[in-house]
Amino acid sequence: MTVEENTVLRTEDLRVAFGPIVAVDGVSTTVEKNTFTVLIGPNGCGKSTLLRTAGRLQDPDHGVVLLDGHPIGDLPARQVARRLGLLPQSPQAPDGLTVIDLVSRGRDPHRRWYEQWTDHDEQAVDEALRVTGLTDLAHRPVDRLSGGQRQRAWIAMALAQRTPLLLLDEPTTYLDVVHQLEILELLAGLVRSGRATVLAVLHDLNMAARYADRLIAVRDGRIVATGTPAEVITPPVLARVFDLEAAVVNDPENGRPVVLPRRRAPQ
Ligand SMILES: Nc1ncnc2c1ncn2[C@@H]1O[C@H](COP(=O)(O)OP(=O)(O)OP(=O)(O)O)[C@@H](O)[C@H]1O
Ligand SMILES: [Mg+2]
Repeated sequence: MTVEENTVLRTEDLRVAFGPIVAVDGVSTTVEKNTFTVLIGPNGCGKSTLLRTAGRLQDPDHGVVLLDGHPIGDLPARQVARRLGLLPQSPQAPDGLTVIDLVSRGRDPHRRWYEQWTDHDEQAVDEALRVTGLTDLAHRPVDRLSGGQRQRAWIAMALAQRTPLLLLDEPTTYLDVVHQLEILELLAGLVRSGRATVLAVLHDLNMAARYADRLIAVRDGRIVATGTPAEVITPPVLARVFDLEAAVVNDPENGRPVVLPRRRAPQ
């Protein structure tokens, strides 16, 4: 397989500005097939804007996003929705919508309006509810769930879509530590088994270091460092990206870097 065929997503010199604020400032990067890539960086550095632009929720002012080699702006919406699932940072469900109705919406891109709901749709929804631990809450309104339950419902919707590419903006926010581990294990499992490519934003650097194949560190709309967790999670890079003074040790179980945050780095 050529390098090009292995690239699921590519951004070329992407720029997104909101008036005077340049949120994404010349980002060129690639996401390779069946990898778990994690975007890290401080609040307001442009992670969500980059992810939204990659998922065509936001138009770039300059540059291009290529999905499987095609400019994403030229692809029909249904085709994009069959290839990529996007979980935005703070999704809003319509009032009263139940969990199962929300998760079922993940199947919409796979059906035309005149087509019947199939066993395959049913199975995709049931599995998404099960792996996110929501089967018992399926008929509860989303707006009456706890923060973590609601977040899991949105993850379930993205999973039910069964797209080969998942773009997830802080999927584990609001989740307790065991649910964080379960969701990240699940995503890593999809990647390992060749069923998905994942690009996610995570704030927890230790979770990012543990699960990512590749990290992309962003600051002020630009990529500051990319590489394996061992290459990116280092005291000098953490100082450059976050103004963080930290010690980095290795997890005795898996050798992955673990960050011990100390203080804001002196300017
Ligand atoms: N719709 C918008 N209109 C105006 N400014 C925006 C808009 N969306 C984002 N911004 C600005 O663009 C910059 C990047 O925002 P973005 O949401 O991409 O950051 P982020 O890295 O995801 O931050 P966080 O970690 O807080 O989620 C910020 O300065 C933000 O205020
Ligand atoms: Mg964000």
